[in-house]
Amino acid sequence: MALFELRGIRKQFGDNEVLRGLDLDIRRGEFLTICGESGCGKSLVLKSLIGLMQPDEGTITFDGEDLSRASEAQWVTVRQRIGMLFQESALFDSQTVLDNIAYGLREQRVLDEATIRERVKESLHLVSLPGIEDMWPGDLSGGMRKRVALARAVAMRPEVVLYDEPTEGLDPINVTRVNRLLLGLREELEITTVVVTHNMKSAFDTSDRLAFVHEGVVAITGSPAYFRELKDERFVDFERASKVDPFAES
Ligand SMILES: Nc1ncnc2c1ncn2[C@@H]1O[C@H](COP(=O)(O)OP(=O)(O)O)[C@@H](O)[C@H]1O
Ligand SMILES: [Mg+2]
Repeated sequence: MALFELRGIRKQFGDNEVLRGLDLDIRRGEFLTICGESGCGKSLVLKSLIGLMQPDEGTITFDGEDLSRASEAQWVTVRQRIGMLFQESALFDSQTVLDNIAYGLREQRVLDEATIRERVKESLHLVSLPGIEDMWPGDLSGGMRKRVALARAVAMRPEVVLYDEPTEGLDPINVTRVNRLLLGLREELEITTVVVTHNMKSAFDTSDRLAFVHEGVVAITGSPAYFRELKDERFVDFERASKVDPFAES
């Protein structure tokens, strides 16, 4: 049984049929990259996994539990097992790095403050930014903000982390650094890793498996080696376009 099983997911906004019966398995412990052109519904798929988007149709199971009709209380429990890095990093600018990373842990009301500070310290260490607890988000470079957001996503030691465009807007050196961090966090914390990106170089460099979203469904899945040899024109066209995309990360 896969950790997440999505079946027949449909989502429409007005006339815009975005997801049209999408099926996807996310296996325990894997590094899965969801790719596809801008606007194809990648962020929506991630949001559906933590209950921030309700599909019009379809079912989602997590660790065998059907979440399709989950109550808000059930989602709260599920979300404690899942970390998420949002597309915009979304740090709170009026809070220090410490408070940003500690936010979810404090909400949980499980750990005492000393343990939380220790966890924040470890998390900053994991993203190679030791000792910056007292800095403010406004004082950080784009690359550092991303890494603080990564530290926050893993601070609760989740079983799964969902990263939405983790390298978007970064220069090539920071792209490589963030990709290494994602791999390192997966190794160190044994987390199932789901990344959304349109940067195919990153996808090939990091993933165990890719899922290519096209016309509202997962059209193709396979290993990076499989995709590299693929002649399917839906993917070839997308990959070619992503290489000339001025907004692509590298
Ligand atoms: N809340 C919303 N209201 C209306 N349209 C939306 C909303 N959220 C997403 N969409 C539309 O759904 C499509 C897919 O969005 P998204 O998942 O963000 O794409 P991607 O992450 O692949 O770029 C886009 O056309 C977007 O405009
Ligand atoms: Mg998106």
